[in-house]
Amino acid sequence: MQHLVDTDQLTLKQIETIMEETRRFKTKLPPPLLSDKLLITLFFEASTRTRSSFEVAAKRLGAHVVHLDPTRSSTKKGETLEDTFTNLCAMEPDGVIIRHSENDTPSRLAEMEMVPVINAGAGNYAHPTQALLDLYTLYEWFEGDLEGRKVAIVGDIVNSRVAASDIRLFRRMGIEISLVAPKPFMPPATDLPQFERIEDVLDEVEVIISLRAQLERHKKPIFEDYAEYARHYCITEELLEDRGILIMHPGPVMRNIDISDEILDDPRCMVLDQVKNGVFVRMAVLTLLLLDSVKEE
Ligand code: CP
Repeated sequence: MQHLVDTDQLTLKQIETIMEETRRFKTKLPPPLLSDKLLITLFFEASTRTRSSFEVAAKRLGAHVVHLDPTRSSTKKGETLEDTFTNLCAMEPDGVIIRHSENDTPSRLAEMEMVPVINAGAGNYAHPTQALLDLYTLYEWFEGDLEGRKVAIVGDIVNSRVAASDIRLFRRMGIEISLVAPKPFMPPATDLPQFERIEDVLDEVEVIISLRAQLERHKKPIFEDYAEYARHYCITEELLEDRGILIMHPGPVMRNIDISDEILDDPRCMVLDQVKNGVFVRMAVLTLLLLDSVKEE
């Protein structure tokens, strides 16, 4: 049984397969390869993109999807998460897609070995399908030539599961990463190059991944005034000038704090390309995990 808690569970060959299958599915939608499969989605944290993207991906492949709303589930009556999961597994789904605020929830459920568990975002630890869709966006743009590409991750890195997963996956692919953040947003232990000013990396990098300040994970407010933060870290026309740097963001974007209105409408901005790619990447992930024929390739 193969789970996806983070991308380090995938071999390089499987990552290559996901990239190729994503490109194939994007070129031409496949037949309903998962028409006999049933997936359950279980989102304990808010989501716009990931939940709907998984659902669209599953339905494009002919799978059935059941969504359990945890705010109306029996976890509210004191049932443990493990018991909720076990009861869902008794209905014999082919996979459970889970988002949770705790870093280890997907791995704990995966260790029960009842059904493939797909992590749709856990705490500040991992968001593997976001990392794969970010990688695919670069793979497509750079026509598969990823070794040595230079990417800056900018913003609330320490609280971001996207940053954590991107860093682990991108480094395996030979991508060079710089971190740009004010001190409270910088991870305490990292061997990656660190910068406090975006201006110090602008002439080096080909891609900027901007991140939202994860206010829901801050125990107390870190900045009194996010307008002041934006003055230093918002990606604007004045900052980029005519540099051909790709701008990415996992969403949701805080307009004019993370990225300016003008840059969101600029051809260099890949935010909606990322969302589009996410559906095809998740189709590739679902076929890899749920179809024995792909898994055994
Ligand atoms: N990128 C991402 O995880 O977005 P959502 O929180 O809307 O799913």
